[in-house]
Amino acid sequence: MADGITIAFGALGQVGQGDLVVFVGDDLQLPATILEAVGQEVADLLTRAAASERFKGKSLTALTLPAPAGLKADRLVVIGLGSDKDRAKIDWPALGGFTASKVSGRTAHLALSWPGITPANAADVALGARLRHYSFDRYKTKKKPEGEEPKLTTLTVMVDDPAAAQAAAKAVDAVAEGVIMARELVNEPPNILHPEEFARRTEVLSEVGVSVEILGPKELSELGMGALLAVAQGSTKEARVVIMRWNGAPDASDPPIAFIGKGVCFDSGGISIKSAGGMEDMKGDMGGAACVVGTMHALAARKARVNVIGAIGIVENMPDGDAQRPGDIVTSMSGQTIEIINTDAEGRLVLADVIWHVQGAYKPKFMIDLATLTGAIIVALGQDIAGLFSNDDDLAAKLTAAGEATGEAVWRMPLIPAYDKAIDSKFADMKNSGGRHGGAATAASFIKRYVNDVPWAHLDIAGVAMSSSSSEINRSWGAGWGVRLLDRLVRDNYEG
Ligand code: BES
Ligand code: MN
Ligand code: ZN
Repeated sequence: MADGITIAFGALGQVGQGDLVVFVGDDLQLPATILEAVGQEVADLLTRAAASERFKGKSLTALTLPAPAGLKADRLVVIGLGSDKDRAKIDWPALGGFTASKVSGRTAHLALSWPGITPANAADVALGARLRHYSFDRYKTKKKPEGEEPKLTTLTVMVDDPAAAQAAAKAVDAVAEGVIMARELVNEPPNILHPEEFARRTEVLSEVGVSVEILGPKELSELGMGALLAVAQGSTKEARVVIMRWNGAPDASDPPIAFIGKGVCFDSGGISIKSAGGMEDMKGDMGGAACVVGTMHALAARKARVNVIGAIGIVENMPDGDAQRPGDIVTSMSGQTIEIINTDAEGRLVLADVIWHVQGAYKPKFMIDLATLTGAIIVALGQDIAGLFSNDDDLAAKLTAAGEATGEAVWRMPLIPAYDKAIDSKFADMKNSGGRHGGAATAASFIKRYVNDVPWAHLDIAGVAMSSSSSEINRSWGAGWGVRLLDRLVRDNYEG
């Protein structure tokens, strides 16, 4: 993984060079095991320094003591956990992310030992540190000025039972890799990550046992994907659809669950061209597809006991002599016709065909699509929560719960007949835009017309997939949003 950190788990007390990180509550007392390892002299130093720096041990605050007397470490970093009440509901990945941001040595030892802490907690701390450490600088050729470059390369998490923590971290590492894979794809510039290259990059999934099938224009037109191909026809870059399969369930004939992603490598708007301001962000219009790829990696690499299909439609939406026009009528794979009102409403055209194909060919238990679909969802919900539309209360509740557990929150939005009516067309079965009002909901209603009698959820991730609020576990523009959510959904509900 690109400039990742090495994380190891070890026994308590092995303090060497670099940073030593310890955790304290608002009583500033070191846990007995840590006190034993560092000695009373260091504990006294901490008490004095805390008083002089007004460090109160509040949750997610830090105190750094350079060159502490009586300690081999170069620096003692004290991280607050807050009151007993705060400690009962620690966000472990956030704690790991915050910790990674406070460490400035090349190596760090982190003393994670107090009553009640589990191997899973330790693994989540490691996850947070890994995700916080990620940054995308492949295209920066100048070195960062001294003092600004990230230094941390090796983090040793010291716990009571290193073997158990190591085992828990194996599955969590698979998820971290999936998130980082998704971030990489979203961050890549669109001249590099065009549809063909995106498809090629999914081939690495075969290394973890995912079968990868790549369909090109010929196969797509044989399948009748007229809506998806209509978007692609304005670009010199060919369309691709990638079907990824992971069969991890004990019963190979168990129907799969299906994740479907919008992969518009660049969305110029097409003939209904977007205004120039911020158009560069439309390289991230493949965040849904990136999430599906990252999730497939996570599930396969941790050998999830479930059968899954991941399907992504990858195109570029460009204006050209051959581009589709407002007024065009295209025929989707389902046979339903679509009047193009606005060529910038392209994501739903891509999803319509991929969803139709997946539900016909693989008979999934349920389907979840993820798409940076509308600016309207950002107006409605902002950049910290994704819009959820579903035809199934149970699936919606499970997604909501997974969102609460991971912090990748979703908010259910309505699907009512009025939204469906808004996309009736004068000339075709439907039109691809219902206008400004309720833009996220009419887009969801459009997709719903391609869903048969299958539980389905649509996540509009336009606000969260890129340039969203930075958090303790993410400083990257491409967030890799949704990988942890979907992994959690599967883990909590569908692994038998
Ligand atoms: N990719 C955009 C939506 C988007 C906007 C994603 C901002 C991320 C940030 C989508 O293809 C789009 O252009 N939607 C239009 C639909 C409209 C023309 C009906 C929109 O939201 O304005
Ligand atoms: Mn668009
Ligand atoms: Zn788009």
